[in-house]
Amino acid sequence: MNSKQVVLITGSSTGFGRLFAETLARKGHTVFATMRDPGGRNAKNASEIRALAEKDSLPIHVLEMDVTDDASVERAVNAAIAKAGRIDVAINNAGYYLSGLEEAVTTEQAQRLMATNFIGPVRVNRAVLPHMRRQGSGVLMHISSAAGRVVLPSVGFYCASKFALEALAEAYSYELAAQGIESVIVQPGAYETAVFGNTVTAADEARTHTYGAVKEFPAKINGALSSGAGNAQEVADAVLRIIETPAGEKQLRYFVSPKNYGVEEINALAKQVQGNVLEAFGLAADTQFLKGKAVGAV
Ligand SMILES: NC(=O)c1ccc[n+]([C@@H]2O[C@H](COP(=O)([O-])OP(=O)(O)OC[C@H]3O[C@@H](n4cnc5c(N)ncnc54)[C@H](OP(=O)(O)O)[C@@H]3O)[C@@H](O)[C@H]2O)c1
Repeated sequence: MNSKQVVLITGSSTGFGRLFAETLARKGHTVFATMRDPGGRNAKNASEIRALAEKDSLPIHVLEMDVTDDASVERAVNAAIAKAGRIDVAINNAGYYLSGLEEAVTTEQAQRLMATNFIGPVRVNRAVLPHMRRQGSGVLMHISSAAGRVVLPSVGFYCASKFALEALAEAYSYELAAQGIESVIVQPGAYETAVFGNTVTAADEARTHTYGAVKEFPAKINGALSSGAGNAQEVADAVLRIIETPAGEKQLRYFVSPKNYGVEEINALAKQVQGNVLEAFGLAADTQFLKGKAVGAV
């Protein structure tokens, strides 16, 4: 594979996605920075990215993509293929945080969260995989979270969306290894992005008010998360290192965090247990699980 790769990123208007776009493009990778509504609500973000690309001659192309919309995802993937001829890496980054006591989250809020954080990557992966299979190579990257491995009260739905993403990404890794396609998971801890400003809160306040002191959990947790948040460039630098790791040598999971909550230990134990499970089903060799796939921090 050419060392300069073609990378499609979802949710590039702000935060990690935007930093990934700039960080990867500065190293010569061609980036399709996709976002919702670049001609409207995100017009300022889109024009800042385009201006930066022009000023510093960076290979960044802004495309419209709403990960909850089939036609929008297809259009963006087709446009990237038409321009670059291939997609080497798809970074499933678009997502948001939902905070509040679980009983106070409406079913509509729960469905919307899963539609973005979980079904969004399903849709994007289904759109890019036929191209990666044709190429015989590619990387599906999933921006999960430490909350994809540990659970906090008042974060249950967000955790569920990231646990779901982790399960899917891991299953992809077993199924696609034989076709030269890697599936990797990045698990950031808390980092300074627009995520806290974009947080959705549980809508059923009447139920929240019946919880006494427990109703203070969300404020306590969100205060601790935002006050301990690290510099998001750390995650972008990790993503660059992962993308530049040769095919076949990438880990399944990368934990990147200002604080160690023990997620690496969970990852290491899960790797061992998964190895046993695949072995027991006679699948260890077929999934290439035992051939150098490791977990750890970057
Ligand atoms: N920051 C952290 O501490 C942290 C930690 C762990 C994991 N994460 C994960 O990192 C990812 C990026 O978040 P961030 O921290 O960079 O927050 P952010 O600055 O709020 O960025 C989220 C991005 O997702 C986009 N998005 C939301 N719904 C979308 C949709 N339907 N279609 C396309 N794009 C959509 C947003 O676009 P709009 O501008 O259109 O809303 C925005 O570009 C998320 O998956 C988040 O769960 C963040």
